[in-house]
Amino acid sequence: MRVLIVYDSFFGNTERIAQAIGSALGGAPEVEVQRVTEVAPEQLNGLDWLIVGSPTRAFRPSENTQKLLASVPAGSLAGVKAAAFDTRIPESKMPGFLRFIVKRTGYADQKIASALARKGAQLVAQPGQFYVLASEGPLQDGELERAFEWARGLKIQR
Ligand SMILES: Cc1cc2nc3c(=O)[nH]c(=O)nc-3n(C[C@H](O)[C@H](O)[C@H](O)COP(=O)(O)O)c2cc1C
Repeated sequence: MRVLIVYDSFFGNTERIAQAIGSALGGAPEVEVQRVTEVAPEQLNGLDWLIVGSPTRAFRPSENTQKLLASVPAGSLAGVKAAAFDTRIPESKMPGFLRFIVKRTGYADQKIASALARKGAQLVAQPGQFYVLASEGPLQDGELERAFEWARGLKIQR
């Protein structure tokens, strides 16, 4: 069983979530957690599971996450089970005009999930959303535990 968790992170919050997900899934050697800039598209070949997470930046995944997803050939994730997650600011902490825009434009999680599906992956779970209290963090209390539970909920058999 090969599981790859790919994440991007500017201030370390999404990285901590990715590590929590990795530890919930049992850790190395079969479960790898890698920063998106260190992942070559060929590494996605032969995976059983691919989990991709990004901070939400301007309503979408980070540029590096978008680049990796765009570089995956169409259909090449057929047979791979996949899930997406993001980190974001709670709507209650956004100024009103941003709340208005975000209702229409959304977050990184759905965009990652759609890209994975377009490349042929089978989405097997609702995306995970994890909250930071401000742009640079910290994570809201309990988010690492929630990430751990979300990952357990994927029911990855090893
Ligand atoms: C340039 C920029 C754009 C952002 N855009 C959004 C956004 O559209 N929606 C949102 O909820 N949070 C937004 N955020 C907050 C990020 O989601 C937050 O910085 C991120 O979750 C922190 O994760 P990291 O430490 O892994 O980078 C933005 C932050 C920055 C710096």
